[in-house]
Formats: sequence, C-alpha cells, structure tokens
Amino acid sequence: MERNWKLTATQIVNELSLEEKAKLLSQIVWETTDIKKIHKDLKKFLLADGPAGIRRLKEYFDEDIYNTKPSTCYPSPSTYASSWNRTLVHRLGEYMGKEARQEEVDTMLAPAVNMKRSPLGGRNFEYYSEDPYLTGELAAEFIKGIQKEGVGACLKHFAANNQETRRMNICAEIEEEALHEVYLSAFEKPVKEGCPQMVMMGYNQVNGEFCASNPKLLQILRKEWGYKGVIVTDCYAAHNLGQGIRHGLTLQMPGESESRIVERVVELIEHGEITEAQLDEAVQHNILFALEAGAVRNETGNVSCEYNREEHHKFARELAEESMVLLQNKDSILPLHKQSSILVTGELAVHPRFQGGGSSHVNPWKLEIPLEELKKYGKQVEYLPGYKIEGTVQENQELCQEVLEKASEYEIVVVFAGLPDLIESEGYDRASIEMPTEQNHLIEKLAEQGCRVVVVLSNGSVVEMPWREKTAAILESYLGGEAGASAIARILFGEVNPSGKLAETFPICLEDNPSFLYFPGNKTRVTYGEGRFVGYKQYAALKKPTAFPFGHGLSYTEYEYHIGEVSKARVEVTVKNTGERAGKEKTVSVELDKKAFMRYHTECHSWMIENSVYEISVGSSVLDIRFREHIAIQGNLPVITADSNLGDLLQIEGMYTRLEQVLKEHPVSLGFLVMTQDEDPLKSVSMGSLMTLNTLKRVDDTLSDSDIDMILKLELS
Ligand code: BGC
Repeated sequence: MERNWKLTATQIVNELSLEEKAKLLSQIVWETTDIKKIHKDLKKFLLADGPAGIRRLKEYFDEDIYNTKPSTCYPSPSTYASSWNRTLVHRLGEYMGKEARQEEVDTMLAPAVNMKRSPLGGRNFEYYSEDPYLTGELAAEFIKGIQKEGVGACLKHFAANNQETRRMNICAEIEEEALHEVYLSAFEKPVKEGCPQMVMMGYNQVNGEFCASNPKLLQILRKEWGYKGVIVTDCYAAHNLGQGIRHGLTLQMPGESESRIVERVVELIEHGEITEAQLDEAVQHNILFALEAGAVRNETGNVSCEYNREEHHKFARELAEESMVLLQNKDSILPLHKQSSILVTGELAVHPRFQGGGSSHVNPWKLEIPLEELKKYGKQVEYLPGYKIEGTVQENQELCQEVLEKASEYEIVVVFAGLPDLIESEGYDRASIEMPTEQNHLIEKLAEQGCRVVVVLSNGSVVEMPWREKTAAILESYLGGEAGASAIARILFGEVNPSGKLAETFPICLEDNPSFLYFPGNKTRVTYGEGRFVGYKQYAALKKPTAFPFGHGLSYTEYEYHIGEVSKARVEVTVKNTGERAGKEKTVSVELDKKAFMRYHTECHSWMIENSVYEISVGSSVLDIRFREHIAIQGNLPVITADSNLGDLLQIEGMYTRLEQVLKEHPVSLGFLVMTQDEDPLKSVSMGSLMTLNTLKRVDDTLSDSDIDMILKLELS
C-alpha cells in the first residue's frame, strides 16, 4: 500500500512546476495551501494542537486561539505521565484519534516530549517527565494509539526546547553526552517505534544552529534513526530554509505567503543553496502525507467517526484517577469517612484549575466541579471560600479569618490549593515555584490551629510546600482535565485506590534543582551546566533531600516486592498487595535492551557499553530501593589512543600477554607493566595502571613511535 503511494507521490512531483512545488513547502495557518488546485489527486490537510485534547479552532483564521470547538479535555501530560501506564496512554491516543477524525483533523500536533529540565519551565504541564526513558515509553504508545485511528501524530519539539524564555532565539549549549543521553533519548523510541507521521522542530537553537535547519539534529532524525515522515517547523521558525531542506526539513508551519515562498525557493535554487532534487525530496514527503491522509478520509467518509462523548468523559476520569499522586497520608487520614463532617475551602474547589494555557488549551465538553463531586459522597460537606484567586489582600484576610473561626467545628478540613491559570502557560516561564501567599497562609494557619488538614493541589508542575510537614494529607491532583473533580472525590473517599507515582522530583526549594544556576541563561544562550544530571539523577547522586522523590506515590494499601528474573535481558518483579484494601497486584517485567547499559561517548561520537559491573535497582521510588543486584557486562572495547593508560588497555581481554610480548625488548616499560599486577596499590595503580603510552615513551628511551603504533594495533588483533 505504502509503496503505491510513494510511486504516486513521485509521479505527482514529476508533473509539478517549480512554483507549484514551492507552494507545497508551506502551510497556511493550520491548513496546507489549497493543494487540490495544484494537483487534482491532492486534498489539503488539517493540523490541530492537542496533547490534552483536540484544539480545533472554530474558524481556522481566527486570531483568538481559545475560540475552539468543544472537545474532551483530558488530564494534562504531566498528570497522565504519573500513571506510568503504557496501555492507558495508548488508549488515550485512540480516544483522541477518534475525536480528531470527527473534527476532520488529519494530524494532531502532539505529543510534546521535551524534558522538564527546570521546574520553572512554562510548558512543564505539557511535558511528561524529567526522565527520558519514561517519556519515550509513554509517547511511543500515545502515537501508536492516535495513528491506529488513521490520524497522524506530530512529535514535538525536536530538540532541547526546555524553556519559554527567549524560546525563539535562545541557543541551548549542551555537551554531546547530555544531548544524546537525555534530550535526544526522549525522542528516539517515539520516532523509531511510534513512527509519527510528523516531527516538529523546536524554535530554539542547539549548539549554534536553529533546530529547523540544524544539520546535526536533522541528520540524526533522517540518517541515524531512519525517519521517513514529514519534518515541520514550529510556527514561523524556518530560519534557514535552504539548509533545512538540504538536511531533511519538508514543511513550514505556517509558512510565508504563496508569493514569498515561490520567490524564496527560486532564489535558493538559483544561488545553488538547494538542488531541484532536494526540493523534490522535501515536496514528495508532503505529497505522500497528503495522499495517505486523503486515503484515510476516503475510506472512512468525511465526518468519519461519531464518538460517544459520555464514554470519552468517563475515560478522562479513569485516566485522572490512575494518575493523581497521594504525596502524604499521616495516620491514614485518607480515605475520608462518608459520615465525617468536612469543611471544604479554597476557590479552586468551585472554580477548578484543570488545564494549562497556550496551544494545548481546549474548550472542555463537560467540566466537573470538585465541591459538587465531593457532596455526592460525603454526607456532611460544607464550603467556605478561604481565599479568592483574584481577591485583594484584605478580602483574602477576611476570608481566611472566617475559615479559621469555623474550622474547629469540623473533623476534617480539605483545602483546595494550587496555581492560578496565569502562572502556567506556554509563552513564558514561571518566576518561582512558590504557591500564592494567601493559600500558603491559609494552610499554615489551619494546621497551626490543630486542624486535620487535607490539601488537594491543582498545578501542572512542581510547587514548594513550606507547610507539608504540618498537614495530614496531600493529594497532588495535577491538572486533571474535565473529569478531574470526580477523580479527586473518588480518591478522597476511597472509591478508588490512588496509584499515581511522580514522574518528576519535588524539590524542597527551587535552589536545589540541578539546573538552578544556569536556567534560563542570558539574552542569547543557556548553558546546560548540570550535564546529564537532570532531575532525580542529580538528587540521587548527591543524596540531596527532596520534598518528594521521583517515583514517589502512596496508596491505601501496602505492597511487597518479590524479585523474579534478573538478567542482562530482563528484570521481573511481582508486586503483591499485602494490605487490607483492594489495590492492584501485578508482575512487572522490564525489558533491558542494549541501550539500558549504554553511555554516549563524546570521544568516539557514539553509544558504547563499557566493560563493567552494572547495578540494577528495583524500588517504589528513587529513595525507596527494595532490591539491588549487580551484573557484569562485557561491553565494547575501550577507545584506545597513545594517551590511554595501561589500566584501560588491560581491560581488553588477553592484552597483558600481548603487551608483554611487545615490551620484552623494553625493560623499563615492561617494569611498569609488571607493576600493574602488584598487590601494593601504590605500585599497581599509581605507578603501573596510570602510565599512558606517551608517558612510557618519555620515560623509556628505547620506546619509539613505531612501537606505540604497534601497541595500538594490538587492540584490534
Ligand atoms: C507551539 C507548538 C504548537 C504550535 C501551533 C507553537 O507556538 O510551540 O507546540 O503546536 O504553536 O499552535
């Protein structure tokens, strides 16, 4: 099937004039140019945003990006990443795919898999995690789910688009090791296994080149990972179109006007910046995409899918229930008893915060209200505002006072707290991770007064919780989407057992975050000084205390871990529910592919497995490790040069005997080799293993360049 389309695409390209081809390189806002006019077999295709739901504008040329058709608002990606559940995220893709088809959307501009490098990142709520492995696993399933429904996914923003501050010009300066191991890693599996129909390049620069024309990034996509689909710019971000096309870029979104793009392409060809063959190649990708999208529409009819909105709403709830994270639960205060007298306070209980701002914003089909949902379960639930998000200082003091006076009449006080809409949005980063003062004050005072306080947080990314030790329970509900309220109620009253686990670290304070000293850089560049120690990798390595570690999440029941197979290929753990409440019980099997043991080596610009002993840890969070096992792995040969030392050379099997053979004519050097075997570390390590070949040459008159060459060749023999 695909082969036929490819052939047709090639035939169409051959029939087009240069001007027509140029027009096919550019989107007009959300749609392609009317390509039917260009060729009778092509229909224009439509793009729409959406990691948390379909953002289909009512009018495609509307400047109000919030004027969208109603659709299911699912929990934000930062929420559902805490489910750590591939199957569920795959189903989410299918649900969104169905909605996209109904809205005649050909491609959804999702998922977004940039790393949460700093808690201040303005779009953290749209991203999955600070860990590239978890991110890649979930994003690959999301893509497969969407594309199963015949709708394309667009993986974005490639790569290292980790901040909103100066996002359109900032240059991310990242050492190769961190770039590959962290920032590119998150994209690799989604590209190779998810096979998205599009990949969107980031706005920013990486190591001196804008993403959309970055030879290295484009080459990794096209050559190393073999990506065959459409590569699109972020909005208006085709900085160097010629260089981009030369390396694999195919589409500008939205692009220049038809006349401008034609002029530009003619110029690029005239100046020899691109060849017509390179232009054809780019256009062919777009045509192939248009043909495939058209074929899906023909097969399924135009309004191709009528989804059941109620069923989608229920799924949004299921997803939220599996994702919310119970951070703290002292003396098992939760679940709440239905008969308890409960005071609910905080404006967010009646005006919930359920999604982030910017291009992922959707117009929810049916928004639930937390207070109403709580009243469905609790018999004695009452509400007082406690604070207003936009209230004046005096108004908030009065509201707080009112709650403090009445709180002692109730067994439990549930405070809805979190971040206001304006704090978390695309387009700018957060200034701090503090919560609004009036909310902190309310919680603090209630706790000091001896109330049993349960805090329900609504925020898209981490917050500081100065009051955390004084409160009884904390439920991180994140941004739960349109059905988040019933998910909260069902978790609080124990209808559902909380099972979310943090996909990011909650630091005690912002200054603890590894990127703190570097983020967001100066006017032109940002140095990724923490290297590959992003998020929990640094907290764990430095044993730095955190408020809540990566992977943390409590439950109403208890689990025991039983270790099964641990090998180079797999780790198997059976998790058994040993508590009194129903919870999930399962066998978790993690496949360990070669990549699990690989590190990126800057010296040879490639991934390698080092000969070493590796530790495999199994735990319920990075701080709660229940089991460790060590396995020795025979890896690649170390990279050997004349500046390598004897210790590294001797890691190669059989090397001692071979070296002994060559050095027998050079007694001084031989002496150092023999020392590597001495029991005294001063001799074996310090005098033997640390000597480099070049140092030996200086110490030993008899050793020449050709002897060193011979030794280097031994490595290969
Ligand atoms: C965002 C993309 C989004 C696009 C279209 C850009 O500003 O960075 O994520 O897909 O707008 O809305």
